[in-house]
Amino acid sequence: MHTDVVILAAGQGSRMKSALPKVMHPLAGKPMLQHVIDSAAKLNQAALHVVVGHGAELVRKQLEQQPVTISLQAEQLGTGHAVAQALPACQLDGVVLILYGDVPLIQVSTLQALLQQAQQGHLGLLTVELLDPTGYGRIVRNAVKDVVAIVEHKDANEDQRQIREVNTGIMAVPSQLLNSWLPQLSSENAQGEYYLTDIIAMAAEEGIRISAIRPTTEQEVQGVNNRQQLAELERWYQLQQAKILMAEGVTLYDPSRIDIRGDLSVGQDVVIDVNCVFEGHVVLADGVVIGPNCVIKNTTLGVGTRIEAHSVLDEAIVGSHAVIGPFARIRPGTQLADHTKIGNFVETKKAIIGEGSKVNHLSYIGDAVIGTEANVGAGTITCNYDGVNKFTTQIGDGAFIGSNTSLVAPVCVGDNATVAAGSTITKDIPNGQLGVARGQQKIVTHWKRPTKRQS
Ligand code: UD1
Ligand code: CA
Repeated sequence: MHTDVVILAAGQGSRMKSALPKVMHPLAGKPMLQHVIDSAAKLNQAALHVVVGHGAELVRKQLEQQPVTISLQAEQLGTGHAVAQALPACQLDGVVLILYGDVPLIQVSTLQALLQQAQQGHLGLLTVELLDPTGYGRIVRNAVKDVVAIVEHKDANEDQRQIREVNTGIMAVPSQLLNSWLPQLSSENAQGEYYLTDIIAMAAEEGIRISAIRPTTEQEVQGVNNRQQLAELERWYQLQQAKILMAEGVTLYDPSRIDIRGDLSVGQDVVIDVNCVFEGHVVLADGVVIGPNCVIKNTTLGVGTRIEAHSVLDEAIVGSHAVIGPFARIRPGTQLADHTKIGNFVETKKAIIGEGSKVNHLSYIGDAVIGTEANVGAGTITCNYDGVNKFTTQIGDGAFIGSNTSLVAPVCVGDNATVAAGSTITKDIPNGQLGVARGQQKIVTHWKRPTKRQS
């Protein structure tokens, strides 16, 4: 059956005290609203609609190129009014699922359970029981425990405020019924708003069954109103991801000190030390070891590769049994073959480095192609940029670059060629030859050091 998903995202979120619209605040590196969209997109035959209002321009920008329709709620007159803005874009013969851009962790399986109810002509309502229900709409049931109404906290009497079962706001409703109920809403209540929740009493009056369903976890329906709630949800979400990793056979030295902002695929016996951040799409093959305080983004690491402490990798492809760091910075376009070594204070960018080659200390290797078994000495710099253009440095198999060498690109060091330490290389060096390009050493005899004057 056709499903229209209406995601409310018009509220201001004033308690965030932010220039960014609330639903754009990231959780695990992704806007809260995007979490909701991504989950809803997993539902069968679902058309997505987002109701925007506060910060509409920024929210629209996030939604560009996404298969969602956007409705503007210029004035925030209540949740019922918000849903009504999207209704013209919905079909009449299906079901409407109502979600919230600031309730980011809702699970697809829970949504499916709600939809099933609506597909049978019922109203599927997601409720939870809270120790402290203050502020929430209360679920009112009759003598035989059927749901008959939702009463907002501000409108509730003392007895109703004792009810601990509350409305999460999330519900699935047959489209035709929703279409007939929304125009009947009134704003004569404590907040002067058009409450979506008033449709529950309308359903009960018409004899429509209201099926209250519970989520698997409370966090799934946790809304975010301030930065503390956002941080709490972030920590919970990260811990869930850590548990999944451990179940997949990863050793985490501290499951509460890992952050995954994207997706992390792992082989067996991966070991991750504390305070590592993974962003985008990261793949760690069997036996990869990540030292503490590493940041790894959109990168693939081969079998048995080790990243030592304090290294930063971004858009790199690394083979097996490589060793990188400590304190390495691997930038986009770096490809490191098997058994390569990148040491401390080495920066690479668009560097293709062949099997068994080493760049062990204090170097910048950019726009370079290095063969196999080459050794790049400490302090080697590829001078790849003239201020306008980038040029490539080529270093052959088995080449040996002496320490403190500048390679002024475009330049080519041949296979098994050697560069003398301290050289500034501007011309190609043929295979097997030595290139020396440095000032001649002189000895100054009888030279006197300056001395301090005695006063
Ligand atoms: C709402 C429910 C309440 C439920 C609670 C759960 C109603 C009347 N009440 O109350 O039963 O327990 O959520 O958190 O529905 N929004 C718009 N446009 C509007 C009004 C709201 O887009 O005109 C969006 C807000 O951005 C927010 C969501 O809808 O994401 C909920 O609105 P809010 O005003 O926070 O509702 P509550 O008073 O919390
Ligand atoms: Ca709220």
